[in-house]
Amino acid sequence: MHLPVLSAGLGLREIEVAGAAGIWFRLADGRRVIDASNTAAPLGHCHSDLVAAVRGASGSPALNEGWLWPGRQRAADDLLEHAFRGEEGWVGAVRFCTSASEANDLALSLAQALTGRAALVTRERAYLGTMGLAREVTVQPQWHGGLSSARNGWRPVPRLADVRLLPPPSCGVYSPCAPDGSCRCLPADLADKLADAAAVIIDYSQGGVYPAPAYQDQLARAARAAGALWIADEAVTGLGRQGRWLTVQRGESRPDIVTLGKGLAGGVTPGAAVVMSQPVAELLRDQRWQSFSTFRGHPLTVAAISATVRRIDRDGLVERADALDATLRARLAGIAAAHSCVRRVAGLGLHWTVDLRGGEGRDWRADPSTPTPAERMLAAALDAGVLIAANGEEASLFIAPPLIVSDGELETILAALDRALTVGDKTLLSAGGGSALPGAAGSALPGWAEMSVPGRRLAAGPTRGGRSGCALGRIHRHLPGTGRAGPGSVRGRRTGAAGHDPPGRASADLAVRDRLRRWAAVARHDVAVAQGQGRAARPAADRAQRAGRQDEFRG
Ligand SMILES: Cc1ncc(COP(=O)(O)O)c(C=O)c1O
Repeated sequence: MHLPVLSAGLGLREIEVAGAAGIWFRLADGRRVIDASNTAAPLGHCHSDLVAAVRGASGSPALNEGWLWPGRQRAADDLLEHAFRGEEGWVGAVRFCTSASEANDLALSLAQALTGRAALVTRERAYLGTMGLAREVTVQPQWHGGLSSARNGWRPVPRLADVRLLPPPSCGVYSPCAPDGSCRCLPADLADKLADAAAVIIDYSQGGVYPAPAYQDQLARAARAAGALWIADEAVTGLGRQGRWLTVQRGESRPDIVTLGKGLAGGVTPGAAVVMSQPVAELLRDQRWQSFSTFRGHPLTVAAISATVRRIDRDGLVERADALDATLRARLAGIAAAHSCVRRVAGLGLHWTVDLRGGEGRDWRADPSTPTPAERMLAAALDAGVLIAANGEEASLFIAPPLIVSDGELETILAALDRALTVGDKTLLSAGGGSALPGAAGSALPGWAEMSVPGRRLAAGPTRGGRSGCALGRIHRHLPGTGRAGPGSVRGRRTGAAGHDPPGRASADLAVRDRLRRWAAVARHDVAVAQGQGRAARPAADRAQRAGRQDEFRG
């Protein structure tokens, strides 16, 4: 007799992994397949450095976060030496934790504590985690802890925080909004949304969004002007996935806080981190940050973190991801052009999203009874020896193999994707009209410019700069008790940490804003100094690269 083990039922059914080595999984049925969509294993599986590090730390005492441990300081120093090299003028302190969800919750609650404000700003299509405030800013209706089924529809859990939404940016690193690289994706009411917000949090890949550096820089300026903190979630993109140690390095601005996770500990142990700027660290100097968790910065975790960042650096894997970007861009564009089920391809370095026609999945419902079109596509890829993943709503496939992937293995992945898309052409479009995803509306996401594949003009969605007001309206419709909320805001009951009490708030708020404005000025100064000290070369090179390679994905 077995006690049932539950999960969300992501992706393919009944895949049992029996073991792994390098980028290969050994399945319980004996097959060896490439693990092509797993951002938690940048060095692949069972890397000898990581196995040795964890074995070495396995004799450690049961320590909690309150006790010092030399391995923890070593991991912090390794982050500084490798992952944050060149950012010494910015980086101020790190706090380790166990998951990226926890890191985002910690970062957001720290922002609330520092500013004395409750509201949080995020963008549509973000996925920022599964607990606390990280869950609150994850606005995709399907990923908020509720229940979903084809028969019973969607049963959400109520929201607890005041969260304002930005539309998903439609620009990309190689397709900025304007020839001068400026960005028009931010809404006209951005300043209002940020005005009394504690923080804005953005990531650089979720929902197939890979924004242009100008998007980041403009948002950073607006957040600073409003006295809100800017948190960059680099759980997926940090440590080289998009061809930089941090994707924020493609822009000129630097955040107040970066969160890391996923592959930070190489996948051999859970591990995540909140890394803050010097001005934020300075604000914490004379106070205690009252949050505690037993296993944060566990000896196994920090040993794995040290081994991971050292090896990524030693093997030049960040540079390799950067070098592979152009190859993948060209190859994926070619493959996508050959398949009518593909709506759009976007990506950077070793993180790529293939959006399928048939809508953006907002109305998707889980259906455990019959294989969905996406599942059939993934089964075809598996037959070709590659485990590919679909996003939660099965509206896109994504490719994100370990950073150690070889050229030959990449060819196998691309061939498998091609096979999956052939199945997609048949199953997704057989119903006609290109809207055969279960329950999908068949429309492009409003405000979501199509980056069409060469030679084909796809569904004419509103172009860049369009605003997604109706998409926000749809979120309201799904949420219980949100009728009072205005457009662009998801308001639920305000309780707990998010429910700051109004009495006496105004003067405290003014004092806090004043303090934040002052350190924002310091932050700007620091960034300018750091840029003058050697980082200037990278943005200049990026700008030149962008200018020469824009628009590769336009028809
Ligand atoms: C961008 C981003 N942030 C945060 C998280 C949460 O990470 P975890 O599931 O490790 O808590 C995820 C997970 O997929 C993510 O993709």
